[in-house]
Amino acid sequence: MGYEPAFGNRREEIAGFAVAELARRFGTPVYVYDAAVIRQRYADLAAFDVVRYAQKACSNLSILKLLREQGALVDAVSVNEVRRALLAGYTAEPEEKGGPFPIVYTADIFDQAALDFIADECPVHVNCGSMDMIWQLGERVAGQGREITLRLNPGFGHGHSQKTNTGGDQSKHGIWFEDLERCFELAVHFGLKITGLHMHIGSGTDLEHLRQVCGAMKQSAREVGTQLQTISCGGGLPVPYRPGESYVDLAEYHRLWQEVVDFLESAFGHKIRLEVEPGRYLVAESGSLITEIRAVKRQKGNLFYLVDAGFNNLARPIMYGSWHPIAMAAGDGRYLSGDDEEAIVGGPLCESGDIFTQEEGGFVSRRRLPRGEVGDLVVLGITGAYGAVMASNYNSKLLAPEVLLDHGQARVIRKRQSFEQLVANELETE
Ligand code: LLP
Repeated sequence: MGYEPAFGNRREEIAGFAVAELARRFGTPVYVYDAAVIRQRYADLAAFDVVRYAQKACSNLSILKLLREQGALVDAVSVNEVRRALLAGYTAEPEEKGGPFPIVYTADIFDQAALDFIADECPVHVNCGSMDMIWQLGERVAGQGREITLRLNPGFGHGHSQKTNTGGDQSKHGIWFEDLERCFELAVHFGLKITGLHMHIGSGTDLEHLRQVCGAMKQSAREVGTQLQTISCGGGLPVPYRPGESYVDLAEYHRLWQEVVDFLESAFGHKIRLEVEPGRYLVAESGSLITEIRAVKRQKGNLFYLVDAGFNNLARPIMYGSWHPIAMAAGDGRYLSGDDEEAIVGGPLCESGDIFTQEEGGFVSRRRLPRGEVGDLVVLGITGAYGAVMASNYNSKLLAPEVLLDHGQARVIRKRQSFEQLVANELETE
């Protein structure tokens, strides 16, 4: 199936560019994205009526534009993600009457800014993850006949880590499935129309679990009845990060959902639109974080490569014990020959947990890597999703630039943050 991630521990080039040249041109650390991989991943999902990009995975405006040009619609979880979508050329209203909403705001709350913007300024479609959202929107737009969809928690969930499991009674996400009746009452009260259901049960779904979700969707959709126009199966399509992991069988994934659609279409006598809402699947494999080795330490049996990126740039390893492919390239164009060694890769932060080679629970692990020196480069792979967007300014580190590699061109799509930008909002006391 199309692109396969490269798991070798030497990586001389990315999308036709020498890693060393990218590092020289843009400095390190730097995120680079291969546009061709994003296009390929979008094309994989052609069977779905709507591919709605969950931009939380990577919300850079150029990535949004690229996906919009492919035909993707977009999901937003905050008012500023809505604004990003607008800047990238999406509109609030459907292109044609009855068509899918280009932007959907899916969240469990409205903060005041989101509610004000969506109620008064820009009527993007809302997918409500709590009954309070129906109340709050309803009070502001009563009688306008606005459509809403409901994000349901069907009572169970699944995720690649407990922190990405978004269903079940311990999850804060979605409206509890047994509260559907109450939602109808609220909607009627405010003159809102419930036209869709959405179930995103967690990142890293599998087919067995999906069958249960499909059953739950059928059940709830029947309760909504004929006003239902859309069902969304949420995101969560996995990508293989480690050797031995695999993609989900997309044809089977789609078939299971299409069965729900067919069932509902014959029950209701009209077309039901099937949406999928991936973030990771569309962008993860396109991204690499290029870093430079700044220190090499040998302590008894341990070899450390300390690089200039830390969990301020890529938080997934410290947050979830996530495994990312790690490969090296020489900084000076030589080939990294010689025997590989077990190494620990860490960053510059003043935290002992600032280690890229770690398991869930913070246990340090090792990777077989070539022998490298200060000035050589370490590439953290499959970092296009939940990489740059989860970066922070911890230790007053500056946000890394992002570069898009497309048709032989390398274009900066986000400049490196400057020190002046870092402190711009801070005020000195008299
Ligand atoms: N739709 C909704 C409502 C979501 O909450 C999410 C992810 C997605 C779609 C997209 O899920 P994806 O296809 O990307 O798995 N920071 C974590 C992932 C958190 C996902 C949060 N919600 C990570 O780095 O793995």
